[in-house]
Amino acid sequence: MTLDEGDKLRDVTRVMIMKVLTVSQNALIRGEVPQGIGELKNLVHLDLSYNSLTGPIPSRIGELRSLVGLDLSYNSFSGSIPGQLGDLAMLQKLDLSSNNLTGGVPATITGLTSLTFLALSNNGLSGRLPAGLSDLRDLQYLIMENNPMGVPLPSELGDIARLQELRLANSGYSGSIPETLGRLASLTTLSLENNNLTGRIPAGLSRLKRMYHLNLSKNGLDGVVPFDGAFLRRLGRNLDLSGNPGLCVDDRAVVQARIPR
Ligand SMILES: *[C@@H]1O[C@H](CO)[C@@H](O)[C@H](O)[C@H]1NC(C)=O
Ligand SMILES: *[C@@H]1O[C@H](CO)[C@@H](O)[C@H](O)[C@H]1NC(C)=O
Ligand SMILES: *[C@@H]1O[C@H](CO)[C@@H](O)[C@H](O)[C@H]1NC(C)=O
Repeated sequence: MTLDEGDKLRDVTRVMIMKVLTVSQNALIRGEVPQGIGELKNLVHLDLSYNSLTGPIPSRIGELRSLVGLDLSYNSFSGSIPGQLGDLAMLQKLDLSSNNLTGGVPATITGLTSLTFLALSNNGLSGRLPAGLSDLRDLQYLIMENNPMGVPLPSELGDIARLQELRLANSGYSGSIPETLGRLASLTTLSLENNNLTGRIPAGLSRLKRMYHLNLSKNGLDGVVPFDGAFLRRLGRNLDLSGNPGLCVDDRAVVQARIPR
């Protein structure tokens, strides 16, 4: 079946009561998703992941106002993320990772105030993250690795109060690690490896009681590592500060962690 021809999907658009559409892990499904998808007004979950879909993400997906879950990951969607996705006020999970999306993250994404999970990894996204990220007050997972962002990390990341995982590795981020990340009391995982981050590690990170995985490897960080022995023992091998030639360790902190000596 090719969605190009739109046949199957136009059939399903007649099923107006449909609540869940899962057409996942079927490499045979290729082509473009027709704008007619916007007719499926009752859809609560739309999962088209792991197919060979191409072309733009139809902007009319923004008309599916009942959507709680939208998963378009592992396809070949190209073009930019349609700003209309910001109209999906009920959306809790948005996964657009592993596509060929380019351009910036649209500012309208801050309208997704029910979002708990946002994954945009492995695309060609670039530029500044939009202001207003702290409007995502239920967001727990922000997973956005492997994009050529090439900008500083915004301090507003520290205002996404419920964040548990923040993964922004391998994305050309520059400047320093915002001090505000030390406010993220629920943070368990922080992955910022393989960027161009400079300056000191904010001491506030050492006060994050739930943290158990911290990877800051392969950056240009310097100064004294601000973690005490208890923090270093707790993270153990889940702490990686390697590949930061300017970092030095207070020798009183005896560690079993991959840190530069
Ligand atoms: C992504 O786009 C690039 C250039 O436009 C193309 O070479 C590449 O094959 C595309 N990748 C996929 C997975 O479609
Ligand atoms: C980031 O660092 C890499 C290698 O260290 C360098 O090639 C690249 O130009 C840097 N990018 C920016 C935006 O500074
Ligand atoms: C940190 O990231 C690097 C990739 O740059 C990876 O090789 C390493 O295993 C990671 N370390 C931990 C503790 O996750």
